[in-house]
Amino acid sequence: MKRIYFDHAATTALDKDVLGKMKPYFSDKFGNASSLHAFGQEAKAALDESRQKVANILNCDPLEIIFNSGGTESDNLAIKGPVLAAFRDKLISKPLHIITTKIEHPAILKTVKQLEKLFDFEATYADVDVNGLVNLSQLESEIKDNTILISVMYANNEVGTIEPIVEISKIVEKHREKRQDNGNNLPIYFHADAVQAAGYLDVDVKKLGVDMLSISGHKFYGPKGTGLLYIKKGTGIEALSTGGGHENGLRAGTENISGIVGLAAALKSAQENKEMESKKVSGLRDYLTQNLMKKIDGVILTGHPEIRLPNIASFLIDRIEGESMLIKLDLKGIAVSTGSACSSGSLEPSHVLKALNYPPEKIHGSLRISLGKENTKEEVDYFLEVFPEIVYKLREISAL
Ligand SMILES: Cc1ncc(COP(=O)(O)O)c(C=O)c1O
Repeated sequence: MKRIYFDHAATTALDKDVLGKMKPYFSDKFGNASSLHAFGQEAKAALDESRQKVANILNCDPLEIIFNSGGTESDNLAIKGPVLAAFRDKLISKPLHIITTKIEHPAILKTVKQLEKLFDFEATYADVDVNGLVNLSQLESEIKDNTILISVMYANNEVGTIEPIVEISKIVEKHREKRQDNGNNLPIYFHADAVQAAGYLDVDVKKLGVDMLSISGHKFYGPKGTGLLYIKKGTGIEALSTGGGHENGLRAGTENISGIVGLAAALKSAQENKEMESKKVSGLRDYLTQNLMKKIDGVILTGHPEIRLPNIASFLIDRIEGESMLIKLDLKGIAVSTGSACSSGSLEPSHVLKALNYPPEKIHGSLRISLGKENTKEEVDYFLEVFPEIVYKLREISAL
């Protein structure tokens, strides 16, 4: 049976060219980048070159990039790092406050909740509208004089909505200036989780205006277990993993050179081809969406109809259990997801779809299709051929 992969928001296959670039660093060029001898210097050269490559793409200084193990680690450092630094610099006069949104990935939400649980700490989870867009005036009204961080995702992993990062940066900048005028020396930072966005959208940090940006290699045909956090120079941040002085003292541990080489190569390729790939993949996504809605009644497209990632189409299918759909499609060789693959294993209705205000009975029928560069129209046609029958059969036996 031919297998079709429509779950690129969960992960992507490692690109073969990227693998080719990584290979020498597993065996022949195995040195530790901290070693002073030639083996080490060879590894160090690859590390420096990768950092420069990423810095060119992000339009930042190479020293502003911290390589690590992926999006989850980046998000943890972005949230906890500034809080630890505020303690270190004795800037705390009352509980610190963080603003994030209700639709963030658990790497953000659980990290903020952990701080709330363990410390005297305040958090605001900003609402989004039915399309998943954060409300800018509400977000601004939540900023207080003890707010240290605002963290809003660049694009959502379940519904694909793209958030207004530039506008949020401007709001943060305005409050930063106000704080200076008022003699409040608590910094206020803006972090964006670009894990889903980096494969398709501009990640120029100067244009975005962010202080920190999370990126993960395996979402754009790079290796799993690789990622980076951009941290703007001057951002008060304390390391979470301490040890050697790697990564500017912010992430101790011998660098994963093959992974870093792969991450940089994959990011470069994704960014160079993003216009072409976006056009191709959004064409397929729209073809799939229009035909799916024609063929099956009771289907809602979730997320913003236009301001969305080109590769994600997320639906609510009336009177169906998402898990049953997923299994039936898997038996036909098609891999999709229901809600977020990262949080699968729990039967809790998706927190993202709940925040978009859909009732639980509708959320149970959620289906996420996330396309990628290897998908074809023939694959979409096969899906459109087999899926309606699956839906009608499931509806016949459905208790919903
Ligand atoms: C928006 C978002 N943030 C963070 C993560 C976590 O990234 P990683 O799998 O690299 O830890 C994911 C993973 O799906 C994600 O979609």
